[in-house]
Order: sequence, then structure tokens, then C-alpha cells
Amino acid sequence: MEGKTTTLLLLLFTLLLTTSLSKDLCHKDDKNTLLKIKKAMNDPYTIISWDPKDDCCTWYAVECGNASINHRVTSLDISNDDVSAQIPPEVGDLPYLEYLIFHKLPNLTGEIPPTITKLKYLRYLWLSWNNLSGPVPELLSQLKNLEYINLSFNKLSGSIPGSLSLLPKLEFLELSRNKLTGSIPESFGSFKGVVYALYLSHNQLSGSIPKSLGNLDINQIDLSRNKLEGDASMLFGAKKTTQHIDLSRNMFQFNISKVKVAKTVNFLDLNHNSLTGSIPVQWTQLDLQTFNVSYKRLCGRIPQGGDLQRFDAYAYLHNKCLCDAPLQSCK
Ligand SMILES: *[C@@H]1O[C@H](CO)[C@@H](O)[C@H](O)[C@H]1NC(C)=O
Ligand SMILES: *[C@@H]1O[C@H](CO)[C@@H](O)[C@H](O)[C@H]1NC(C)=O
Ligand SMILES: *[C@@H]1O[C@H](CO)[C@@H](O)[C@H](O)[C@H]1NC(C)=O
Ligand SMILES: *[C@@H]1O[C@H](CO)[C@@H](O)[C@H](O)[C@H]1NC(C)=O
Ligand SMILES: *[C@@H]1O[C@H](CO)[C@@H](O)[C@H](O)[C@H]1NC(C)=O
Ligand SMILES: *[C@@H]1O[C@H](CO)[C@@H](O)[C@H](O)[C@H]1NC(C)=O
Repeated sequence: MEGKTTTLLLLLFTLLLTTSLSKDLCHKDDKNTLLKIKKAMNDPYTIISWDPKDDCCTWYAVECGNASINHRVTSLDISNDDVSAQIPPEVGDLPYLEYLIFHKLPNLTGEIPPTITKLKYLRYLWLSWNNLSGPVPELLSQLKNLEYINLSFNKLSGSIPGSLSLLPKLEFLELSRNKLTGSIPESFGSFKGVVYALYLSHNQLSGSIPKSLGNLDINQIDLSRNKLEGDASMLFGAKKTTQHIDLSRNMFQFNISKVKVAKTVNFLDLNHNSLTGSIPVQWTQLDLQTFNVSYKRLCGRIPQGGDLQRFDAYAYLHNKCLCDAPLQSCK
């Protein structure tokens, strides 16, 4: 009798154990899609361990949501691999994806597939340091949950879609180190979201920056190493809360004599432009960590005080007739 009970209990226990073990949280559509992605990317080393027998929510580079969304896949992060492939259009078939990351895949080529516009919950798009080409997709503006776009270090070309300004939750837009041309969209003066950082450096952007950008109060703005010209003084303003302004290596041309800089600015790099005038005394009130006004056409006395003498002559080199410390005293 006792033996029988034990056997029964054992049986029950085994049954329980196996059912709980084989309980796959992963949604079968997501598993199928992920396996297609793996195949389309030629079985990259980082995800070679994906085993169809396992719960895909336990796979490397994959994360699933909780029961409220049936444990659908919410994150795919494939980084640091020598995969030779394109972004598989199938990524658009992970309908609950919030984070899509392809990072440091130097042989990831081709265009950003239009299918990603199906990812209506996407919040975070990080496709940096690959060799992607083609345009920044205009259709990204349909992904109303996007908070973070980072497409830096690729070979993207064409102009910046002005419609990106329509994204209501956008906080970070980083498109630096590509081959983007054309001008900065007028619409960037009125982002729907509260954009914290705008990085467009190391491209081939040209023309004047739109006056509307004066409306922006952005924490970090980097337009360095483009071919931008004309007036950029609207980016400054005593009432803004900007911290980081890099306009270096462009062809901006304006007189800085009366440009007031917000007291919050601690990074100010204006080197290699055609700026004229003299350094305003107001700039002695700044708390500067980085400062560079070299290679311009500035003239006159460097105001003495504040942080302006904390920087050596290299920050002031190659101007028309700047003088006083840290340069030679004025005649
Ligand atoms: C499930 O996830 C959602 C979205 O991340 C979250 O808002 C919710 O609080 C979570 N629910 C539980 C029960 O953890
Ligand atoms: C990328 O592809 C090129 C040419 O096919 C190859 O020579 C190179 O080793 C690859 N690089 C990496 C990091 O896989
Ligand atoms: C893109 O590919 C080229 C050569 O194919 C390589 O030299 C370069 O490092 C790659 N770019 C990135 C960002 O990995
Ligand atoms: C974007 O990605 C690059 C490359 O990984 C990184 O250096 C940079 O900090 C990122 N930008 C933002 C705004 O997170
Ligand atoms: C720059 O503006 C100041 C003040 O308005 C003016 O005195 C100066 O002549 C201007 N410099 C140049 C080069 O235009
Ligand atoms: C300022 O920029 C110039 C030109 O790029 C560079 O040579 C110099 O070292 C920089 N100075 C400082 C203090 O960063």
C-alpha cells in the first residue's frame, strides 16, 4: 500500500515537473520570427546558441515582457559580431518590440528595412557603428513611441526627414558620423517631444540653420564638422538651459560680440568657423569645462576673469587680433 502511494506521488511529481519545465513562455510566432532572423543573418556567433527546443525568452540577446502582454518579445540586442548580412525585414514581425539594437556589426550593410515601421511599441532604436546605407527612413515618424534614435557611425545618406520632429516622445536624436546632406529641417525648431540632445556632427549638412532653432532649449547640441554657414547666434541665449554646444568646424559667420551664453553652458566649442567680433565680458560668468574659440576671426581683449583664463593659448589660437591672457597682452 505504502509503495503504491509513493509510486503515485512520484508519478504526480514527475508529471508536475515536466509540465512546468516544458511551459514555454515564448510566444510561438515570436520564436518562429527569431529563428528566421537568425537564419537571415547567417547564424551569427552571438546568437548561435538559440535552440528551438528552449524557451525563446531565455535566449541570449532576447527579452520578453510580462504576462500582461503574454510574454511577447520586447527587446532584441545583437552587438559586437562579425555578421555579414543586412537587417532582416522580419524584425518588423516582432510586434511588441520596444528595444531594437544592432550595434558594432561592421559588416551589417544595406538599408534600414521599411518593415520596422510595423513596430508600433518601439521606444529605443540603436543601430550604431554598422555599415548601413541608404536614407534615414521618413517612415520612422510613424513610430509614435520612439524616445531614442541613434543611427550614428554608418553610411546613411540623403537628407534628414523633417517629419522626425513629429515624434511626441523623442528625447535623443543622434545621426552623427554619416553622409547626410541637405540642410537642418525647419521643423526642428518645434519638436513635439522634449528633445534633450541633438547630435548631427560629422556629416555633410549645408546651408544656414533655420531661424526656428532659436525656439529650442536643448540640453546638448552638436552640429560640428559639417558645412553649415551663416548665423548660429539664435542657439545661444541667456535664458536657455543648454549645457553643451559644439559648432566647431563649420562655416558659420556671425559676430559674437553681443552673444549672451546661458550660465548653464559648460561645453562651448566654436573652433574653425568665420566668427567675428570680440569675446563678450558676459562669458566670464560661465562655468566652463571645455572651451575653444580657435581658428576664427576674433579680435580685441579677452575678458579677464571667471574660467576664461583656465584654458591655455590653444583655445584661442589663430584669430585675427585677440589679446591679453592667456595670449600676449594688448598693445
Ligand atoms: C508588466 O509590464 C508592464 C509594462 O512593462 C508594466 O507596466 C506592468 O506593471 C507589469 N505588470 C506586472 C504585474 O509586473
Ligand atoms: C567584413 O567583410 C570583409 C569583406 O567581406 C572581410 O574582409 C572582413 O573581415 C569582415 N569584417 C568583419 C569584422 O567581419
Ligand atoms: C565599414 O566597412 C569598411 C570596409 O568595408 C570598414 O573599413 C569600416 O570599418 C566599416 N565601418 C564601421 C563603422 O564598422
Ligand atoms: C550613440 O551611439 C554611439 C556609438 O555607440 C555612442 O557613442 C553615443 O554616445 C550614442 N549617443 C547617444 C545620444 O546615446
Ligand atoms: C561686431 O559687433 C560689435 C558690437 O556690435 C561691433 O562693435 C564690431 O565692429 C563688430 N565687428 C565686426 C567685425 O563686424
Ligand atoms: C581647440 O581646437 C583646436 C583646433 O581643433 C585645437 O588645435 C586645440 O588644441 C583646441 N584647444 C583646446 C584647449 O581644446
